[in-house]
Amino acid sequence: MIIDIIAGARPNFMKIAPIIGEINRVDSAKKALSYRLVHTGQHYDKKMSADFFTQLGIPEPDINLEVGSGSQAEQTAKIMIKYEALLFEKPCDLCLVVGDVTSTMACAITAKKLKISVAHVEAGIRSGDMTMPEEVNRMVTDSITDYFFTTSKGASSNLVNIGVEKHRIFFVGNTMIDTLLKYVNNLNQPEVWKKQGLSPKSYILLTMHRPSNVDQADQLKEMLLEIIRNANGFPVVFPVHPRTSKVLGQISIKERNFIATDPMSYLDFIYLLKYAKAVITDSGGITEEATVLGVPCMSLRDSTERPETVEIGTNELVGTNPQNIKPAMNKIFSNSWKKGQIPEKWDGQTAKRIVEILRTLQ
Ligand code: UD1
Repeated sequence: MIIDIIAGARPNFMKIAPIIGEINRVDSAKKALSYRLVHTGQHYDKKMSADFFTQLGIPEPDINLEVGSGSQAEQTAKIMIKYEALLFEKPCDLCLVVGDVTSTMACAITAKKLKISVAHVEAGIRSGDMTMPEEVNRMVTDSITDYFFTTSKGASSNLVNIGVEKHRIFFVGNTMIDTLLKYVNNLNQPEVWKKQGLSPKSYILLTMHRPSNVDQADQLKEMLLEIIRNANGFPVVFPVHPRTSKVLGQISIKERNFIATDPMSYLDFIYLLKYAKAVITDSGGITEEATVLGVPCMSLRDSTERPETVEIGTNELVGTNPQNIKPAMNKIFSNSWKKGQIPEKWDGQTAKRIVEILRTLQ
């Protein structure tokens, strides 16, 4: 069986790495499965893509569709046209997509229309917020998926509730956490650490890239100032996503404890996360990583598709109103943030479970 493994954007890379590692390990012994790694090119900067391949030992993609930037529709269309051409020329038996980015949805649709089965890793999660492009991607992908791999029992229930047959749903855990646990004791100290004289638990880590938070310069500035001014003088370290960078260029922030950097590669970013006093973010994946690392996590969002990070983990939804930031940060600095536990099956063995199931599909 030939599996197309699809990766397009930064958060996909840590999710596919352990699956590829496991197929390579099993395959070299048994030649049971083979795969073709398809990079759509949705993210293309070295710092958003190639550095992750190098650090996580992901092989060079077999194919790069090189779609580049564009609007949601442009990107979706370009990926579908190019992936369809590839499948016409060289079909596969199963298309495996991960997460909720545009590449996930576009490749799933393309494969399904050519009667190729689709497997979705991280299926079934829902924020309920239809203004997020990711929510649309999740719903469309899950409506045509054949094999659903979930990170939580809640995600499995969501799928049952939309009529998916139970025998197609596999609660396997979280491949992003496989990657985290593999590297957590072998991280890279980023340049900013020495340059800024950082030390453990004495800085705040910040990431923001959601269109709703960063596309309006005024709103972004207000949020940033609120965070910086309530940080007790702690450095606020902010690796800046290219989307945010465009808007940040229009804002002047003079506070000395504000440290903006280029996007960071995986081992450098996780190093900063592991030793942070707290992380403030609008990412979903980081709420999972913070939960496993036991780092207090303030989500600048009103909803989450990963409720276990709030119910079990260290994450709290602070929302997007700047007025909510001060009380939440006070809680961090008074050391009264909840401790949190690790969700079921987030144990580093998820890719193994997935590949075992994939072998039974032949
Ligand atoms: C995408 C995902 C989002 C994920 C995020 C992580 C979708 C709908 N969204 O959002 O779920 O959390 O990735 O990064 O798929 N750009 C560059 N260099 C790059 C990539 C992008 O400069 O390598 C620029 C683009 O030109 C664009 C902006 O960054 O202006 C946004 O890129 P895009 O791929 O559209 O979506 P993200 O916001 O990165």
